[in-house]
Amino acid sequence: MKDRPAQHDSVQNYYGKVLQGSDDLQTNACCSPAEMPEHVKRVLANVHDDVLMRYYGCGLVMPDGLEGARVLDLGCGAGRDVYALAQLVGPSGEVVGVDMTPEQLAVARAHQDWHAERFGFANTQFVEGFIEKLDELGLEPGSFDVIVSNCVVNLSTDKAAVLRGAHHLLKPGGEMYFSDVYADRRVPRAMAEDEVLYGECLSGALYWNDFLTLAKGAGFDDPRLVTHRPLTIENPVLEARVAPLSFMSATYRLFRLEGLEPACEDYGQAVIYRGTLPHAPHAFVLDDHHVIEAGKVFPVCGNTWKMLADTRFADHFQFIGDFSRHYGIFAGCGGDSPFEREAGEAAACC
Ligand SMILES: C[S@@+](CC[C@H](N)C(=O)[O-])C[C@H]1O[C@@H](n2cnc3c(N)ncnc32)[C@H](O)[C@@H]1O
Repeated sequence: MKDRPAQHDSVQNYYGKVLQGSDDLQTNACCSPAEMPEHVKRVLANVHDDVLMRYYGCGLVMPDGLEGARVLDLGCGAGRDVYALAQLVGPSGEVVGVDMTPEQLAVARAHQDWHAERFGFANTQFVEGFIEKLDELGLEPGSFDVIVSNCVVNLSTDKAAVLRGAHHLLKPGGEMYFSDVYADRRVPRAMAEDEVLYGECLSGALYWNDFLTLAKGAGFDDPRLVTHRPLTIENPVLEARVAPLSFMSATYRLFRLEGLEPACEDYGQAVIYRGTLPHAPHAFVLDDHHVIEAGKVFPVCGNTWKMLADTRFADHFQFIGDFSRHYGIFAGCGGDSPFEREAGEAAACC
């Protein structure tokens, strides 16, 4: 890339030369939660140790309903998630990993045949490139069902370009499902220039509210938070260097859907989950406030309806209602009417 940002060199150096394995990390920012669904544990058990020991992710990027899907992993590193996802999409699906660090890709590629033999099929591909320039990698626009990324966007020098590029590569109804690190406020410039803090996935992090604005600007109109956990930096020296900021690891899902509204609007609609998604017989988790139990009538706003009806999840739901009649704002989704306060009562915010 012409005029490469300095951070690209230092991040490549960090992940290509400084770190030799997950144990070399100086904080636990890049580290997945201990609780893992059984089916994820099963697929990880089929990933080569050389790949597993170079895992630097911060969450789980394995949404439901992947069978047959075409998946792209932004900043795939040594390929742990690519090889786990390859088993979940199966022989009729495909997983493409993109990374800019040759040493990371060399490990991923060196184990491609081993994994193909173990799985009984070959469905992975690794591409060297920058996630800010997804349009230069020969990937067909509108061709991916799901785009994942695990602890990478925070390292990017142009996060808006990454989100725009991902939106462009997704099929209509596709989703970006990704884990990353967020700060509780905008990171001061001096901190952002600290190479270790940046490489450790801390000081490149977006302030969470700026992320929401960027995501909407890229065309992802209703970002949904799936999980989050506070990051503890178990390294007193680095902890002092980032104080007083605090950081979260969070997984968001961003759907490429036409017609999502800025707020949750109530059209009197509901869905019933059929319990048919593999690994989710009892409940489907759309996000942190939509745990949809199988067989139960579950009222939804218009946006949630579209996230289920106009995506790969449609066959797993029964849909009740339509958009013909509007009942106002959907209660309890954080967008309550401003007119419900008593006259003279102060608003809760500034
Ligand atoms: C924290 S590691 C995560 C790797 C992998 N997702 C995992 O979970 O093990 C960050 C990875 O993103 C890659 N990366 C960072 N910035 C990038 C960019 N602008 N373009 C492409 N890859 C990038 C690095 O080379 C590194 O492999």
